[in-house]
Amino acid sequence: MHFDSFAFGIIGAGTIANLHAEAIRAAGHRVARVCDVRPQAAERLAAEYGATAATDHRALLSDTTIDGVIITAPHALHAPLALDALAAGKHVLLEKPIATTHADAVMLAGAAATASVTLAVGHVLHFVPSHIAAHDLLRAGAIGDIRLVVERRASNYAEGSRPEWFFDPVVAGGGIVLNVGTHAIDRIQWFADARIRRVSGAVSARPGSEVETDAAALFELEGGGHASLTVTGTGLGFVEQIAVIGDRGALTVDREAGVQVFVGGERTVHVPVQPDEMAAAFTAQIHDVVEAARTGREPRVGVDYAAGVLDAALAVYSSSEIGASVTVTSEVAA
Ligand SMILES: NC(=O)c1ccc[n+]([C@@H]2O[C@H](COP(=O)([O-])OP(=O)(O)OC[C@H]3O[C@@H](n4cnc5c(N)ncnc54)[C@H](O)[C@@H]3O)[C@@H](O)[C@H]2O)c1
Repeated sequence: MHFDSFAFGIIGAGTIANLHAEAIRAAGHRVARVCDVRPQAAERLAAEYGATAATDHRALLSDTTIDGVIITAPHALHAPLALDALAAGKHVLLEKPIATTHADAVMLAGAAATASVTLAVGHVLHFVPSHIAAHDLLRAGAIGDIRLVVERRASNYAEGSRPEWFFDPVVAGGGIVLNVGTHAIDRIQWFADARIRRVSGAVSARPGSEVETDAAALFELEGGGHASLTVTGTGLGFVEQIAVIGDRGALTVDREAGVQVFVGGERTVHVPVQPDEMAAAFTAQIHDVVEAARTGREPRVGVDYAAGVLDAALAVYSSSEIGASVTVTSEVAA
């Protein structure tokens, strides 16, 4: 295989597939095939990119001209589809969350370890320019040692707000924690440069919802720091804020104000958010996957890291269920 122009297949032609397809084009690569169990969805996206449409992912995977696939299907299908893709020798960019169970994540890690292809997981925040700037500032010691991370997210999680499968606990694997909370857990661990080791969580579902719509959690981080997370789907508008508290000052990121650093009560750094930064992030993510596939180096977000995010999210559920804090012990690295 040579990847001057990498041929991608997309499995799952829903909302986020549009951003990936645009990113593939922007990165100078090609959407060659699109698959969706809904034929019209596959055909619509395929037509836009001059690709071939299919309704069975096995047809896409048996095409030897496809170098890699992007899996943008419902959560419970992530692991089985990725396993099929790895077995077919395709490089894989798998949307978050890596899986819906720890066992599935372990199985994927095992398959990825023996495969001679790349498996990357789509925790796209690692490619967002403002987030990279914030991460660089934190690593450069702009606020000193990190003591506390406060994550607050809200988005409408009422039925009708997104495709129906998100409200089916079997297909979605959970509700707002697994879907939205995993972005927050990722950001906490990435910014703090520390894994979550212990979790106290409480989740609740709005009446009539089979998946949780609101949750709060307190995390103990390795190295002694702490973090809190609220992720709510009822009543509030869109909120996506993080405050990182260090022993010299604080850093905040939000979609409106961008990145700000406060030391001694004064704002010392301000990095505004670029309007097109999500498109830029999806394109950078494609570049990373292709580069990893080309050189054999690790992708920026690999299977072990993504499994750690999943494990912390699942620990929110188990802690809530038993009414006590739980330890996140899992490691999936081969
Ligand atoms: N990184 C991000 O910021 C971000 C944003 C949105 C969604 N996501 C993730 O992307 C994934 C998809 O979310 P979405 O909002 O696009 O959902 P969606 O429902 O819009 O798209 C999923 C598509 O998969 C199709 N599908 C179902 N079973 C299939 C199968 N067996 N083979 C092929 N296609 C199948 C569905 O018909 C649907 O069109 C989820 O994992 C979600 O968490 C990530």
